[in-house]
Amino acid sequence: MSKPLQGLLDSCRTYLDLPVERLRTFDPGHYTDEDFYALEVEHIWKKEWINVGHASELPNPGDYFSIELIGEPIMIVRGKDMELRALSTVCRHRYMLVAKDKEAGNKSLFVCPYHHWTYDTEGQLVRAMYMESNKDFDQEKICLPQFRLEVWNDLIWVNLDDDAAPFAPRVEALDDLFSVYAPGDTWEMTNPYDKIWPGNWKNFCENNMEGYHHMGLHKDTLETYSPTRLTTGITWGENWTRYQVPYDMDTEMAKSLVEQTNWTPGDMRQNQPALDILMIHPANAFVIYPGGAGFYSLWPTAVDEVRYRSGSVRPKGEDMERFDPEGEDYDSMRALDEDGESMPYIAKGVRSAKAAPGKLCWMEEPILRWMQWISNKVLDGKVARS
Ligand code: FES
Ligand SMILES: [Fe+2]
Repeated sequence: MSKPLQGLLDSCRTYLDLPVERLRTFDPGHYTDEDFYALEVEHIWKKEWINVGHASELPNPGDYFSIELIGEPIMIVRGKDMELRALSTVCRHRYMLVAKDKEAGNKSLFVCPYHHWTYDTEGQLVRAMYMESNKDFDQEKICLPQFRLEVWNDLIWVNLDDDAAPFAPRVEALDDLFSVYAPGDTWEMTNPYDKIWPGNWKNFCENNMEGYHHMGLHKDTLETYSPTRLTTGITWGENWTRYQVPYDMDTEMAKSLVEQTNWTPGDMRQNQPALDILMIHPANAFVIYPGGAGFYSLWPTAVDEVRYRSGSVRPKGEDMERFDPEGEDYDSMRALDEDGESMPYIAKGVRSAKAAPGKLCWMEEPILRWMQWISNKVLDGKVARS
């Protein structure tokens, strides 16, 4: 093991029983070191459940979208049997991709562009021309492979580990709260926000785990109705963290947001209007608020690059243009860009020779709980290997 990696793992050990009063960030190297990143990929990203979207994105047989998840080209497809599957897009002939990254639409057949081998919505090969001469070719036995997929409260979860334990029991404590993501057919999903940002995935996660930065990065958006100073309700479980930033009902903005949505106490499982912000580790963030519920998923594409896929469920019939990242009136996800646009600067910061871990405030406690989870994963992995 390289000396820098040993140092980073030793450092991880110090977070395991770090009191919240002594909270500090990870070391710069935790965000930049290729060997540490390789450990994260092996022991976190190839083992954990990742929320890639919402079932309402794919209502009909043949609906699909494609993603590249930790180097795996995958398409999420609703089969003609109405089941959702995570199919590998790698053609069983000569490795061509039958769907490229970020495709979306509806197909009854997936035709490989290379030699036109053709698969149905369940991944079964249904057509391959001029193959009679190959004695080992048996069309019925050829299928696009599947990755593990679970739908939990209409959220689509994928795991690259064929032997992973089921997802739902791991988050049982959140099941009732997350039923807001499955409100039936009176709600619909906004067009997904799907972007690549420079930066290490952990910097993005940290950003999603505290309301401390509302008064900074979001001073003209979230802070105007959901201000930092009201942050409260920090709780956590083995695999998740949660906190709330209540609306400041003395502001016109908060009043109008609540009015627009006809929110009444109890709606969205809330006693008062708030951003209720959750993280299911490693990097699946969620925000529940009056009138909607968003998912904010990300995964690394490299040590210094992140894929960010997000969307919201909202009542049907709303002006969805407001939520369309490609649309002219796009504004509701401006806060996401405010976060994303700041990340390249942090990516530069962690690479400076003068960078050093900073002290954190009490509102950043969810970050500690998640750092401890990460540290346990990479340390367990290292112990298991040696
Ligand atoms: S690689 Fe797909 S048909 Fe040849
Ligand atoms: Fe933010």
